[in-house]
Amino acid sequence: MTLDTTAINQGMTHFDGQEAIWLFGYGSLIWKAGFPYLERRPAYIHGWVRRFWQGSHDHRGTPEAPGRVATLIRQAGAICHGMAYRITPETLGPLDVREKNGYLRLVTDLHFYDDRDGTGDEEQAEGLVYIATEDNAAFLGDASYHHIAQQIAHAHGPSGPNRDYLLNLAIALRELDVEDPHVFELERLLPPQGR
Ligand code: SIN
Repeated sequence: MTLDTTAINQGMTHFDGQEAIWLFGYGSLIWKAGFPYLERRPAYIHGWVRRFWQGSHDHRGTPEAPGRVATLIRQAGAICHGMAYRITPETLGPLDVREKNGYLRLVTDLHFYDDRDGTGDEEQAEGLVYIATEDNAAFLGDASYHHIAQQIAHAHGPSGPNRDYLLNLAIALRELDVEDPHVFELERLLPPQGR
């Protein structure tokens, strides 16, 4: 598969004609929106776990020394918590460019868990999520926690140090009251800066 997924994503017509689309973020899209949105709500999706298995050649690393960023891996029965944004269709253009290093848009059901109307009813909506699957050219896959933490500690790209991505994500998940053992273990193993 090509390294740049922009054109594939822009060929997707699923939400054509809709005034607004829900986008589910689970990585940098949780803590660094950087795009306009109409509404933002904590949400979760079923059947996926967050993993630092995607290589980053363009944001948190380089083609020669890729960083590691989050993608989602299918796991039956799992729940992945994140942040949902209601955006207008024009916002997808720049997002496709931001996520071009292997991420493809996928249609998914989003569940909202903040009980704003006080009824306790769960709300649900169809939305989009960007996922880097294992057939993309930048995919790195599993490795030991030690190896992944070391790679993150040393990688640096145009968007800044890879460690900031991990640390900001860990902070954002705590703020959401989300327990993510994969992310928190990597945070724990991250060597201090300069080592
Ligand atoms: C996401 O945050 O939803 C996608 C992965 C990323 O941009 O970090």
